Amino acid sequence: MRKILVTGAAGFIGSNFVRMMLDDASCDDKIISLDSLTYAGNLANLDGYHDHDRHTFVKGDICDEAFIDQLMAEVDIVVNFAAESHVDRSIHSSSDFIRTNIGGTQVLADAAKKHNITRFVQVSTDEVYGSLGKTGLFSEATSIKPNSPYSASKASADLLLLAYFHTHSFPVVITRCSNNYGPYQFPEKLIPLFVTNLLEDKKVPVYGDGMQIRDWLHVDDHCSAIRTVMDNGIEGEVYNVGGNNEQPNIEITKMILKHLGKDDTYIEHVTDRLGHDRRYAIDASKMKEKLGWEPQVNFDQGLPATIDWYINNSSWWSAIKSGEYMNYYEKQYGTQTS
Ligand code: NAD
Ligand code: DAU
Repeated sequence: MRKILVTGAAGFIGSNFVRMMLDDASCDDKIISLDSLTYAGNLANLDGYHDHDRHTFVKGDICDEAFIDQLMAEVDIVVNFAAESHVDRSIHSSSDFIRTNIGGTQVLADAAKKHNITRFVQVSTDEVYGSLGKTGLFSEATSIKPNSPYSASKASADLLLLAYFHTHSFPVVITRCSNNYGPYQFPEKLIPLFVTNLLEDKKVPVYGDGMQIRDWLHVDDHCSAIRTVMDNGIEGEVYNVGGNNEQPNIEITKMILKHLGKDDTYIEHVTDRLGHDRRYAIDASKMKEKLGWEPQVNFDQGLPATIDWYINNSSWWSAIKSGEYMNYYEKQYGTQTS
């Protein structure tokens, strides 16, 4: 029985990964979920799984050396989701991003090296490659050229881990995935923010002309890719993960409006994000050719199902969209949307 430490397990993708591993009746891995429960961490994301016999939740910070050292002595594998993950917040202030995304990864890696863990999966992002022009795709050979404080912190962690592989034969594998969507995504990100704003009969703040392009992948597909890389990836290698599903933000916005029966008057073009990357698109052929992974969820079905999830789980997001969240909303959007 393997013991897998999942950091950032109470966040969006981490909690979907933990549920996937625990729902698999053929799996006997023990999952130790770790999260410091920042504004983005939510124990409700693991509701129904707290008493699962293969699951333990531990509250703690990946930057806490003594605590991580103690915990690491008990585990075989680390899957590192823990991060500050929102680009707009990194533009307001980058210190938490540097602390957790770089410093926390270093603490985890040093403890993992000391305790000879067999595999360290770093969940990275396509944003480390920077922005594309109208054509081309990010491959694993594309140069790192991050443009936001968030993506610079993720790129730094990737470089540190690859240096540990080169220097210490550290057993790291890195995934770089495109934009995820699905249940339990914190409503500061495009899709859950726009869906929940519209459910509250509020306008949706489209940055600039809305023609920025992202490559959207359902979170279930990202989780299956991470599991594939954890089990079969080659040490020291990077694997790009994407949905082959490029969409301009304005198109996503219109799809959401249509599904919710709202018209274009709900669109508010607001001041653009500083340094906004124009286009991301992933070449995920290495995942298919080397590891046999391909996305399974079609966007035409995945997006409506996701919108319906937010409709049916209003108590989950209304609890978040109150109190402290509103302070962030005010700081980010001011009086631009109401
Ligand atoms: P999220 O913000 O929803 O979750 C992050 C989790 O990490 C939260 O539960 C938070 O409490 C926890 N955390 C933060 N700092 C911590 C610390 N110091 N110690 C312990 N826990 C801490 O983020 P997400 O969208 O689920 O992203 C998870 C990972 O996937 C991140 O590393 C992100 O860079 C990467 N990623 C995200 C996407 C996406 O589209 N969301 C795409 C590619 C890669
Ligand atoms: O590409 C992977 C990355 O995707 C992850 O590494 C990040 O953790 C994740 O947050 C996401 O980053 P983005 O910046 O692409 O996601 P976000 O949902 O914030 O924005 C998606 C697009 O929508 C982007 O072009 C900005 C735009 N946007 C976003 C918000 C929040 C708007 O137009 N209005 C908004 O209010």
